[in-house]
Amino acid sequence: MAETVLEAGNLVKHYPLTRGVVFRKQVGAVKAVDGVDFRLGRGETLGIVGESGCGKSTVAKMLVNLERPTAGSIRYKGEDITRLSGRALKAVRRNIQMVFQDPYTSLNPRMTVGDIIGEPYDIHPEVAPKGDRRRKVQELLDVVGLNPEYINRYPHQFSGGQRQRIGIARGLALRPEVIVADEPVSALDVSVQAQVINLMDRLQSEFDLAYIFIAHDLSIVRHISDRIGVMYLGRIVETGTDTEIYDHPTHPYTQALLSAVPVPDPEARERRERIILSGDVPSPTNIPSGCRFRTRCWKAQERCALEVPALAVPAWFAAGGGPAAHASACHFAAEKHVVP
Ligand SMILES: Nc1ncnc2c1ncn2[C@@H]1O[C@H](COP(=O)(O)OP(=O)(O)O)[C@@H](O)[C@H]1O
Ligand SMILES: [Mg+2]
Repeated sequence: MAETVLEAGNLVKHYPLTRGVVFRKQVGAVKAVDGVDFRLGRGETLGIVGESGCGKSTVAKMLVNLERPTAGSIRYKGEDITRLSGRALKAVRRNIQMVFQDPYTSLNPRMTVGDIIGEPYDIHPEVAPKGDRRRKVQELLDVVGLNPEYINRYPHQFSGGQRQRIGIARGLALRPEVIVADEPVSALDVSVQAQVINLMDRLQSEFDLAYIFIAHDLSIVRHISDRIGVMYLGRIVETGTDTEIYDHPTHPYTQALLSAVPVPDPEARERRERIILSGDVPSPTNIPSGCRFRTRCWKAQERCALEVPALAVPAWFAAGGGPAAHASACHFAAEKHVVP
């Protein structure tokens, strides 16, 4: 396995839920992220997938220090960055950059593309001295497939796909080792999504980048991810290589998500079993006891309400020589070939 660049350990973000205006009283907590673990190797991509509201963006924000974790650790090359401050924090942050979901709202409409891409140099002038900036920004435009002569244009003069390229160029400006991309193609037309993903793929090998690639749909992360973590209500419920997750999902939630992914082959579509989940996702202020997925799970039994299933490699799976890193947080994890 590649050298670990980023590692989350029991990462938690609870937002206090308060009542009253004068005497603010905490009446509960929104458990947006409720114990997330993962490791990311150098140059690798970890895809994080889950329905809207499951805590993906909150994880992303903690990784780039836009939110402070309630508990847990984030290690960059072994060092817990949640404990750093000042100069040490600044130096580490340079190496972990974010690409945002919506290129329509994340770029300042009053700034030129050159100023947007070069803005990170204001905070880290050591990377690009003033006299060198314009050249660096033009180089970045070229790297993401935009004409360097566009440097003085404004965001509204670009299409959605081009704007996301600008967002990516900005993310690259400080030459980070890790890019956290929060649904980078969700706001784009389907026809443009593949182009942006291909670009990110190329940049990854060119700059030896590690990605956390977030999506709400399993079909988007498949081609770019080495490993995938499936999130449900603040936790990762299954994790494994892309092939393991797609071909041999063991958690009922992953099986349900996969059964909803469109299959182009009509015959395969016929053979496939569609799993329709009952009910809605419970509120993160009121997480079910035991297994948090049990209220929507067709396999749920008494044990599921009593015991929290650990994210672990199922015993039958390990005994059968299954890949060691394919873990599932289910008491009744079972292989089921959903997509033929
Ligand atoms: N600042 C906040 N205060 C309170 N609740 C929040 C805040 N940010 C996010 N949440 C809640 O945390 C949960 C997870 O949100 P988010 O991380 O944005 O999910 P996702 O990106 O997977 O859609 C949601 O229920 C959301 O409403
Ligand atoms: Mg989000």
